[in-house]
Amino acid sequence: MSAQLDNQAISILKENDLGGYTIPTKGLYPYQWNWDSAFVALGFATFNMDRAWEEIELLFEGQWDDGMVPHIIFRKDDPSYFPGPSVWGTTNPKIPTSGHSQPPVAATVVRRLFEQDTSAAGKEKIKSLFPKLLAWHRWYHTYRDPEGHGVIAIMHPWESGRDNLPDWDNAASYVDISDIGEYTRKDTSHVNPEMRPKKIDYDRYLAIVKFGRDNNWDPKIVAEQCPFFVADPGNTFILLRADRDLLAMAEALGETEAAEELKGWIALTEKGIAKLWNEEKQAFCTYDLRNDVLGTGISSASFLAPYAGIREEKYINPTREHFDRIAAKVNYTMPSYDPDHPLFESMRYWRGPVWGIINYLIATGFAELGDAARAERLRTDTVALIEKSDFAEYFDPITGEGAGGNSFSWTSAIWLTWATPSLTAKAA
Ligand code: GLC
Repeated sequence: MSAQLDNQAISILKENDLGGYTIPTKGLYPYQWNWDSAFVALGFATFNMDRAWEEIELLFEGQWDDGMVPHIIFRKDDPSYFPGPSVWGTTNPKIPTSGHSQPPVAATVVRRLFEQDTSAAGKEKIKSLFPKLLAWHRWYHTYRDPEGHGVIAIMHPWESGRDNLPDWDNAASYVDISDIGEYTRKDTSHVNPEMRPKKIDYDRYLAIVKFGRDNNWDPKIVAEQCPFFVADPGNTFILLRADRDLLAMAEALGETEAAEELKGWIALTEKGIAKLWNEEKQAFCTYDLRNDVLGTGISSASFLAPYAGIREEKYINPTREHFDRIAAKVNYTMPSYDPDHPLFESMRYWRGPVWGIINYLIATGFAELGDAARAERLRTDTVALIEKSDFAEYFDPITGEGAGGNSFSWTSAIWLTWATPSLTAKAA
């Protein structure tokens, strides 16, 4: 079973490879996506190291002059996707892209590739990627934390990578949608609309894109005026982790100035996360910086503190308790949203389903804490989901049914690099 799934995962990555970069899935997502590519690189690294590096290098070909690495790179126009390059209206001179970013997992992935690839070529790769990663992190700290709170905001739900999370609903409800005009969605022609965001969500998504386009995606204006600006525990923890990984690389490369800058960001964020801590809920939640509202929802990102290297018991103990509460309620961990919350929906985008890549991140954190049992629960659940429902985009935490796109690249990559018992045993 496992060898057959290994082969299937490898085939999916090869089939979704459009020549140096990999699309998430045919039909629904026909371009290069930012954090998808980072996970995909880990998958390639299990059988083709050069191709793994190439995935990251092509992602950085889309980097803007200000350091931002966009969430989508439109190498060729594909009418099966909306909103395409003309809706974004970005002016990046190199390649058409979207106008905002996505969770910065790339530095963490690059560190892993660097540790795995001890060849001279590997050292050269990292030398050329290091300044690009640093510039991206600096962009995040400058423009998505303009007041230096030590938490990272998103300017669009898509920037979080967890598009349709109920936690964005309230902040997005303040976005003026009166001026967006007519548009035709394409996503609901590829998959069941019941699994996708609703029209009101899409109206808001497009209104924020319009704001960005009208302001030439200037990150300073975005920070000051974007109608949606919400600090996200997901991007905050992922960047904190990535800063630590970049620091390790800075030290290996003798980049002392960069190391000092990174240490500053790490110290700031370690303190800043207190702003996201909801004392009553005993969990990390979102913080709407525009309207000054601390969220109350518990999402899969609430479990990323260990991954970010947070060790304080006042945070970690309640995190474990929430994990156990939720794990007892579902057949498959970790639902993207709290099943005890009234807005939980087991099959709708980021409002309940399980994503393999998020399980991998949470499990990495627990494993590093020495919490093997919780890490293993996440891994075996991921294996069971893929065995039951193939390499789907995401899965129902109760029934295990697969949903969204199929033959999905990052689900395949996560199988190869982490979930699969055979390869894990080989790597050990
Ligand atoms: C959706 C997901 C996002 C992902 C993209 C491509 O927009 O929410 O996280 O990167 O699809 O898979």
